Amino acid sequence: MESAKTLQKALIRANPKTDLYVDLAEAATGISLVAFLWIHMLFVGTILFGKQIFDLLAESLDKYYLAHIGIPAVIVIFLVHIFVAGRRAPWRLSDMQTTWRHARMIAHTDTWIWVGQVVTALIIVIMGSIHVWSVMYEWPITAAKSALRVDSGYLWFYVLLLLAGEYHAGFGLYRICVKWGLISNRRTAGWVLKVITVAIVAIGLGALYMFKKFGGAL
Ligand code: HEM
Repeated sequence: MESAKTLQKALIRANPKTDLYVDLAEAATGISLVAFLWIHMLFVGTILFGKQIFDLLAESLDKYYLAHIGIPAVIVIFLVHIFVAGRRAPWRLSDMQTTWRHARMIAHTDTWIWVGQVVTALIIVIMGSIHVWSVMYEWPITAAKSALRVDSGYLWFYVLLLLAGEYHAGFGLYRICVKWGLISNRRTAGWVLKVITVAIVAIGLGALYMFKKFGGAL
């Protein structure tokens, strides 16, 4: 009887390693999504070299089934990341109020950056899902379709998604590096990430300008 109770207690007790595994999953999915977002922006940025180059890349990704593997993989990683990283977000109204009060009381940059991570995460989940759906609905990807989309009202939607995505990716990667001791000099790492983020945002804005221009001429 006693041994049954001990077994029951052991089963109910959480595995002490679970937190570590969940933290590792958060970091691994986070790093993968940052890599995806930066590569995605470089791919979209090929429009800066003309419609033919953009179409050639889209066609090649389709022809060699890279899009067919990459897109479902990104969607799964995206969902796992929401699940594991979302557990720390203040979902209840009382938690939100406490977070807000603490952030104002502590008045520390890293705390405000974390609040920014939660807000940008929400923007990415909602707008990212709409974006992936609208691109996949009109598959295959072509410069003409993308240009029409941007020109028909998606411009400001994309500007907000771009800024939220790059903020979340840049600061998220910085936080992962600090947490897991992957960087020795925080200042230098912070600057490197800021420079990459500004470069990616510039490519994104340049691409949007080109899409808008092509869209207006169609
Ligand atoms: C949730 C993850 C994603 C985010 C945060 C994201 C973000 C963005 C942003 C901000 C832009 C505007 C580009 C610019 O600023 O010039 C964009 C454009 C674009 N994205 Fe994504 N994207 C995501 C996933 C995907 C996926 C999975 C695909 C492939 C199906 C895709 C295909 C495209 C295409 C083709 C464009 C060009 C504009 C258009 O056709 O509407 N994106 N994306």
